[in-house]
Amino acid sequence: MTATVTVTGAAGQIGYALLFRIASGAMLGEVPVRLRLLEVPQAVGAAEGTAMELADAAFPLLESVDVFDDADAAFEGAQLALLVGARPRTAGMERADLLTANAGIFGPQGRAINDHASDDVRVLVVGNPANTNALIAAAHAPDVPAERFTAMTRLDHNRGLAQLATRLDVGVDRLSRMTIWGNHSSTQVPDPSQLLLDGEPIALDDAWVAEEFVPTVVNRGAAIIAARGASSAASAASAAIDHMRDWVEDTAPGDWVSAALPSRGEYGVPEGLVCSFPVTGADGAWRVVEGLELPPAVRAGLAATVVELEAERDAVRALGLLPQ
Ligand code: NAI
Repeated sequence: MTATVTVTGAAGQIGYALLFRIASGAMLGEVPVRLRLLEVPQAVGAAEGTAMELADAAFPLLESVDVFDDADAAFEGAQLALLVGARPRTAGMERADLLTANAGIFGPQGRAINDHASDDVRVLVVGNPANTNALIAAAHAPDVPAERFTAMTRLDHNRGLAQLATRLDVGVDRLSRMTIWGNHSSTQVPDPSQLLLDGEPIALDDAWVAEEFVPTVVNRGAAIIAARGASSAASAASAAIDHMRDWVEDTAPGDWVSAALPSRGEYGVPEGLVCSFPVTGADGAWRVVEGLELPPAVRAGLAATVVELEAERDAVRALGLLPQ
């Protein structure tokens, strides 16, 4: 069996890091892959350059690479869709302008997925504002179950694991049950309250969690920009690979990961908001881990990040960017 994978924003910096890992088998294992790349017309040439390099890497699993500037064509037969291309916020841009510009991308792409993708399509939105872009795409794809539209908080999750591993002086593989709640934004709630080390609960210093851990995870993107002179790209690509692999293959027994998906009302999050939760993957579907006892700080943080998600949804609605 061959998997058809569509990647948007293919000529961007995340695309450059992502495509080679998909083609190498890091995402789907020993499954041959057909790549369909979507770019804006002015970046199609650059995407074709990346396609030439993909050919030159002679990946045994890479069956074909095609480049498009038309969403309908790019999503034809897509089983996995990674929506990376987005309109960044530029100086002087108001939030309404940002939401409108991105709705102009994610609305038509949702519609193209609805009309052209495979029936089993799974969508990961990476491009920011990722949660609300996923909500917009899902709203334009009425024939696709809403839970197939997800947004990426796995990079935040992995950043949290890395900070905890350093603090505890252990490998990340010995840690489990880290959670990111809410929006992929500065209101996200990194939550290590359920953390296990080698499968056993581990108590963390509350002051360290509040004063160092949470701000470090939340501000990590800005720290990377300050150090590298460019935003996170390879780590974002790696997180996207992790998200898709765990969605398709199932998560490790006893562990969970973080992913943003349409709420069914879990933890009091209003239905339909695309919110990050602790999730397990089983049989190709994410399930929210329910029944966790949340510390007061996490509960308060979740309430605040939900307010932000609602404000984004309401703004998009008020701007007439959701189908009636
Ligand atoms: P980039 O600017 O290097 O690349 C974006 C690419 O998307 C460009 O090549 C652009 O031409 C393309 N693009 C724009 N509109 C498009 C459209 N309608 N169809 C197809 N392609 C389109 O940006 P980079 O660094 O690759 O980041 C991409 C997005 O990922 C940004 O929105 C960024 O904020 C977001 N991001 C999200 C993270 C997350 O954890 N959810 C982490 C890091 C980045």
